[in-house]
Amino acid sequence: MNYRTLGRTGLQVSELGFGCGAVGGLLVRGDHDEMVRVVAHAIDQGINYFDTARSYGNGQSESSLGRVLEELQADVLIGTKVQLTAEEMDDIERAVIASVEGSLKRLRRDYIELIQLHNFMSVERQPERGWVSVEDVEPAIRAFETLKAQGKVGFYGINGLGETDAVHSVIEQGQADTVQICYNLLNPSAGIAVPSSFPFQDYAGTIDHAAAQRMGVIAIRVLAAGALSGIGERHVNAAQNVDPIASSDNFADDLVRAQAFHFLVEDGTASSPVEAAIRFVLSKPEVSTTMVGISSMEQLEAALAATEKGPLPADVLNHLAEIWSSF
Ligand SMILES: NC(=O)c1ccc[n+]([C@@H]2O[C@H](COP(=O)([O-])OP(=O)(O)OC[C@H]3O[C@@H](n4cnc5c(N)ncnc54)[C@H](OP(=O)(O)O)[C@@H]3O)[C@@H](O)[C@H]2O)c1
Repeated sequence: MNYRTLGRTGLQVSELGFGCGAVGGLLVRGDHDEMVRVVAHAIDQGINYFDTARSYGNGQSESSLGRVLEELQADVLIGTKVQLTAEEMDDIERAVIASVEGSLKRLRRDYIELIQLHNFMSVERQPERGWVSVEDVEPAIRAFETLKAQGKVGFYGINGLGETDAVHSVIEQGQADTVQICYNLLNPSAGIAVPSSFPFQDYAGTIDHAAAQRMGVIAIRVLAAGALSGIGERHVNAAQNVDPIASSDNFADDLVRAQAFHFLVEDGTASSPVEAAIRFVLSKPEVSTTMVGISSMEQLEAALAATEKGPLPADVLNHLAEIWSSF
């Protein structure tokens, strides 16, 4: 396993991270013994960053992770998140502190390395959608600073989802240490310029904006919630219905679109579509850690094997530009 620096936090994170979300839902719906085996194997293979959130399984992911790590007596880096409800937006500072206190209890820890604001962002607050405004980030950061002063969190970050302009303006304020960014073969716009005809949201180089601020970059939706694997059936531990982020309107359309990248297997570049998708994200040096949502030991093994092969060759990356132009 290689390690990369998580921006200005200075933390050394494994370039493959363990996604404890509800899509690849091992930590939400899995059997306890299976969770212990898979997490132990991940740690054994060098994974040291685990990404969870209060909202994943309504606290279940944090509770499972806390219990498993305690049982394994494992010392790893944990990032969790606070997702403000519309009501909580009335007193953001208080809500953030209460949420983190709950996360610490479920994670069985006095301290977590990273806390992140989970809400999507827009220029104006959109409470009916659960989106916060650029101004709403200020009280959240005040709360994070309080928690930091109390020794309960090490660093804090934001979610790079929502309106591109809003995300970029928070990045440019320069306070947050990290950002989670949707980056994958279906929508590479956070890291590679796309033509104006590109059909999905243009993140306009969010990864590079963040790197310029020395923020740590956590790449998410690397497999487009599984669509880039080419497999439509969901694992029993997985969320059975998923909404794409910044790609097609629905998962079935993403699956069709993902076929455009199967040539990477046919021409021998990668041994599977999953490998190609993970190696594509690893190819961006500004990405600190590449998260993959995990439902099973087999999925973890595949992600580890892909990571071992490293970034895609430069000529392949150049060829991909032609595919995106054809979208
Ligand atoms: N900040 C945010 O708002 C946000 C949003 C999304 C994700 N995240 C973070 O990023 C992590 C990863 O994202 P994600 O889980 O949404 O999406 P993802 O990593 O793009 O996709 C995960 C899905 O890919 C499929 N998959 C994985 N390995 C596979 C393999 N070898 N063969 C076939 N299919 C495979 C699985 O589907 P099945 O399980 O159905 O088989 C799995 O559920 C999350 O756990 C979370 O920590 C954060």
